[in-house]
Amino acid sequence: MLLHIPDVLTPDEVQHAQQLLVDAPWADGRSSAGSQARAVKNNEQLQHDCDAATQIRAMLLRGLDRNATFFSAALPKRVFTPRINRYQGGSNFYGDHVDNAIRFAPDTGLRVRTDISCTLFLTDPADYDGGELAIQDTAGTQRVKLPAGHLVLYAGTSVHQVEPVTRGARLACFFWIESMVRSAEQRRLLFDLDMALLRLRQQHGETAETTALTGTYHNLLRMWADT
Ligand code: NI
Repeated sequence: MLLHIPDVLTPDEVQHAQQLLVDAPWADGRSSAGSQARAVKNNEQLQHDCDAATQIRAMLLRGLDRNATFFSAALPKRVFTPRINRYQGGSNFYGDHVDNAIRFAPDTGLRVRTDISCTLFLTDPADYDGGELAIQDTAGTQRVKLPAGHLVLYAGTSVHQVEPVTRGARLACFFWIESMVRSAEQRRLLFDLDMALLRLRQQHGETAETTALTGTYHNLLRMWADT
């Protein structure tokens, strides 16, 4: 599933993040990549412990917390601490790769299975050319470039790349989620059911049927979730 979630950050938060990143300490992005990925990666990554990274991470996690669509789609068990990267000038692409299946988060001491990959865009698309996130899917390659503050969520299993940035700079935040529901198929069923229930309630209010189907949703989640 590839899902676009708008307005994870407000315009004020995006602007604040952009300001924090103006004089931030950037490093070579290859240091965090596995051996296959390292060969095709050429970008910059923000130093993980700097003030800007800490503030933007906290802002993003608050944004995710208040977003019901994100929760329903991801059913997060663990979120791998978000990182921030930049593509511009001579460091402007990240060729085809698959993200490592397991990430070790030093700050929590936990391993995270990367069921879902997420990118939050931090630059207005008018401010740079190129930089599409191109994700290979059974339906072909999906090329994604979203407004600042919007997020794309896609299968951690997919081959993907960030196309070369040919003008300006592309700032983004990326992270992975280990879901309570490991199977992408089961996650999709739960998401579709939840979204259909939301629309039913908007159209008809709470009825005996929506109550019963909500029960079915939770019983499926109980059966499939690993907390
Ligand atoms: Ni990747």
